[in-house]
Amino acid sequence: MKRYDIFKCEKSNTVIDVLVSEGACNEIPGFVKLEEKTQDASTEKHVPYIEEHADGYFVKVGKEVAHPMTEQHYIQFIEIIVDGDRLYRKYLKPGDEPAACFKVVKGTSVVAREYCNIHGLWKDK
Ligand SMILES: [Fe+2]
Repeated sequence: MKRYDIFKCEKSNTVIDVLVSEGACNEIPGFVKLEEKTQDASTEKHVPYIEEHADGYFVKVGKEVAHPMTEQHYIQFIEIIVDGDRLYRKYLKPGDEPAACFKVVKGTSVVAREYCNIHGLWKDK
């Protein structure tokens, strides 16, 4: 496993991420590694879309159609990783807009990810 890998316990729906890894271990008992999906075939859009602004980044889930944000089905967090070594995360709740504004020092590369409580982990590229 490597830094930023995300794992989920199927019994409790607990989701955890890897802060530091020396690479010697590839599993966490009771948890499965979530794969980052990038292709959205359904009408509910999951792939995060990044807009670069003067003072940071704005990320929305669903470029044209916003992802649902109901009690049963919603985006639980949106995060960006800048230059591979800075991670910023915004937690969301039902009723929120499926988007996050990150006023941060910009870098040369940025990756966005989001986690849907039903459809799992998604990445922009
Ligand atoms: Fe979803």
